[in-house]
Amino acid sequence: MGDYDFDIPVTFRHRIRFTKDAFAPGNQMVSDLLETERERKVIVFIETEIDRLFPDLQEQIRSYLAEQNNLVLTEIVIMDGGEDCKISKTQIMKGIVPIERNGIDRHSYVFCIGGGAFLDVIGLSAATAHRGLRLVRFPTTTLAQDDSGVGVKNGINAFGKKNFIGTFAVPYAVVNDFQFLYTQDEHNNRSGLAEAVKVALVKDGPFFDWLEANVGALNALDPPILEEAVERSAILHASHIALGGDPFETGSSRPLDFGHWTAHKMEQLTNFELSHADAVSVGVALDTLYSARCGWLPEEDAWRVVRVLQGMQLPIWHESLEIRDDQGKRLIYGGLEEFREHLGGELTVLMLEAVGRGVDRHSVDEEKYEACMEELKEAALVAVSG
Ligand SMILES: NC(=O)c1ccc[n+]([C@@H]2O[C@H](COP(=O)([O-])OP(=O)(O)OC[C@H]3O[C@@H](n4cnc5c(N)ncnc54)[C@H](O)[C@@H]3O)[C@@H](O)[C@H]2O)c1
Ligand SMILES: [Zn+2]
Repeated sequence: MGDYDFDIPVTFRHRIRFTKDAFAPGNQMVSDLLETERERKVIVFIETEIDRLFPDLQEQIRSYLAEQNNLVLTEIVIMDGGEDCKISKTQIMKGIVPIERNGIDRHSYVFCIGGGAFLDVIGLSAATAHRGLRLVRFPTTTLAQDDSGVGVKNGINAFGKKNFIGTFAVPYAVVNDFQFLYTQDEHNNRSGLAEAVKVALVKDGPFFDWLEANVGALNALDPPILEEAVERSAILHASHIALGGDPFETGSSRPLDFGHWTAHKMEQLTNFELSHADAVSVGVALDTLYSARCGWLPEEDAWRVVRVLQGMQLPIWHESLEIRDDQGKRLIYGGLEEFREHLGGELTVLMLEAVGRGVDRHSVDEEKYEACMEELKEAALVAVSG
């Protein structure tokens, strides 16, 4: 009889690339990423909206892969994306069925081209079929390129909760192809930058200063500036995951989820009508003001953050914050308990103690939040009427 504890070291390589027109003839990035010493199957999933917006893409992929040695395209599957694709528990099978049909194995590649929601669903299918296939993500929205697509998670919503069913799974590679950014509507394109503002605030003060200095160009979606913002944000997210000591979030501290306890709850309260990106913008504004009200962050810095968000026409307020129960308590506070439950332990919410530096807190003061919400609502009204 005895106790036997084994440490099982496992190292993943997280390959992240930036390019434009990944499947243009002569662009070697994708083929250089893949191991092709013997024949490998490739199955490609494309979100319907991307297929519609890029009518030549299927043909480009076919001819690109046909040019490569040992890569065999088995099928291109077109499926709907958007948040709705994460809502039904049966969605995961929509990815798994074609994977099975095409005899995709653990040495094959699953390409997935779409927004963050689509990547989450196909990512879950790829992570569970054969207990994990090689997924190559091609994120197509600003948010997916600057944050979620370079992460190591997937998931679908269940029981009304975001990402309740999902896994941690490091993709084989992520290819951020900037060509996709420019078919988004302007609002979605800008709002994905809320995650860049967030990661700058918790990780990289000089990046926040740069965003502030370039707020006009970002608002105008000036390509070189937009692409630099996306790339810097993606690399900050990925380096936190790789080097932050807790890639699979076993601890309670979640710095990349700054502003997210409210964001997730607002998405839920609006039945996911409010996008993740817009919800994050409001959540970041709120937790930034709260950090100032608690005396951790200089007030002037908090308003700089609000001005940067507003300078990019991102929301700092949403009416779902007003939804209350019979006792008059805002339902948004329920987000704290759900956040705690999701962390699986003690409540830990990150607040700011400087632009570029976060600090973990384990409780919140609702009275102070009430005051911050009033302030933000007022600031949003002034912006609209001014
Ligand atoms: N796995 C993670 O670590 C993680 C992290 C953060 C967020 N997320 C998830 O990501 C999702 C949000 O992702 P999103 O912001 O990319 O939204 P999304 O995937 O819902 O896409 C938004 C809309 O844009 C469309 N679209 C996609 N690419 C386009 C393009 N290039 N041009 C025009 N339209 C395009 C989609 O069809 C959809 O209607 C949420 O479900 C969120 O929970 C996951
Ligand atoms: Zn987020």
